[in-house]
Amino acid sequence: MSRVAISSILGPRFQIVSEDVAKALQRLSLPANATILDVGTGSGNCAVYLATQGYRVVTGEPATDRSIYARRDWASAAMEVGVLDRIDFQAFAASKLPFAPGEFDAVFFFGVLHHIDEVDRREAFREALRVAKPGGAVVFFEPRQEMLEKVRVDDPAHPPAANPSEYLTSEAVSEQRMAGSWMDIFIYRQPASA
Ligand SMILES: C[S@@+](CC[C@H](N)C(=O)[O-])C[C@H]1O[C@@H](n2cnc3c(N)ncnc32)[C@H](O)[C@@H]1O
Repeated sequence: MSRVAISSILGPRFQIVSEDVAKALQRLSLPANATILDVGTGSGNCAVYLATQGYRVVTGEPATDRSIYARRDWASAAMEVGVLDRIDFQAFAASKLPFAPGEFDAVFFFGVLHHIDEVDRREAFREALRVAKPGGAVVFFEPRQEMLEKVRVDDPAHPPAANPSEYLTSEAVSEQRMAGSWMDIFIYRQPASA
């Protein structure tokens, strides 16, 4: 199914998400059978796009989140797109991930870090690095000003973008930054022998 066809199911934001996730995937060169943890399910744009690319996806958000961004019906959209069987949902908080060390080839946070309570961001980053494989990547997508302005039309109190490097505690992890079309993309890599 084309991105345009999927947008008619998920809505126009899918185009924005898929464009920038595609840019990050090109840089990552993940194995074809990679398993990706998508932190912060929301409407499921990122999870669905990753699943359409053939990856196995585990996604989740806190069961207690009552914001307008949580408890969306992402599963109906995933079913319509035909990728529901590639996505597993599990409720979790980013600061306490219920996964074993090294379980994922990559961990994605699309439009999520700035929604995590400031006091939990450091732990959320540490947890993402823990569950990523040695040599694996943790990728944050944070909105640029034009994107924030779009989002604030519907949600004037939307928080400002976060800078992931402020929450990184390990000196062994490398950082690459890329400009997406709408988001700034931050790619962190574990040393291969971690
Ligand atoms: C704007 S939505 C993300 C959009 C989504 N990634 C997509 O592609 O459609 C923000 C998400 O962050 C989640 N979130 C907020 N705090 C969180 C936390 N502490 N741990 C995990 N997810 C969290 C919310 O529940 C919500 O699912």
